[in-house]
Amino acid sequence: MRRRKFLKYCSGILGSVYATILAVPALGFLFSTLKRGQQKERTYRLTRLDDLEPGVPQRFTIIDQRVDAWTKYPAGPIGSVWITKGQDGAVTAFSSTCPHLGCVVDYVPGDEEFFCPCHAASFQTDGAVVGGPAPRGMDELKTSLKKVRGEQWVEVEYQKFETGISEKKAIG
Ligand code: FES
Repeated sequence: MRRRKFLKYCSGILGSVYATILAVPALGFLFSTLKRGQQKERTYRLTRLDDLEPGVPQRFTIIDQRVDAWTKYPAGPIGSVWITKGQDGAVTAFSSTCPHLGCVVDYVPGDEEFFCPCHAASFQTDGAVVGGPAPRGMDELKTSLKKVRGEQWVEVEYQKFETGISEKKAIG
């Protein structure tokens, strides 16, 4: 009787160990697949520095392959950024995604402001909110200059952020 109990106990433990051995790779696969769907920041070489007019923001589309949990889509637009070269040559970049609800923010040259056509949020050229419902300023992106065959190119780390909240919180 005792022996039978002991064997039952041992087979229960072996069953649990076996189930764990099977579950760990399966969960790893599931989490890696779901994680693949999240777009992390990536660096994009977008323009030559000399092609930017000082003080005038220019919009660039980010083209990349979109990958969700199960599917790889062909390369296409995944977002866009506003890049400005200052009079001193320093470069800044903002995501064109409105931090209110995600519409594409435009630039109004006459007013020298960014403007979102969806609910009329407006932003200064440094990204700060001027008016409207946006809970924070435009999301600034990291930039760097890279010399390629004697020319300076602007590279931007593109990243998406949560909308509708005051905190700048990266997605992915
Ligand atoms: S989405 Fe831009 S103001 Fe609402």
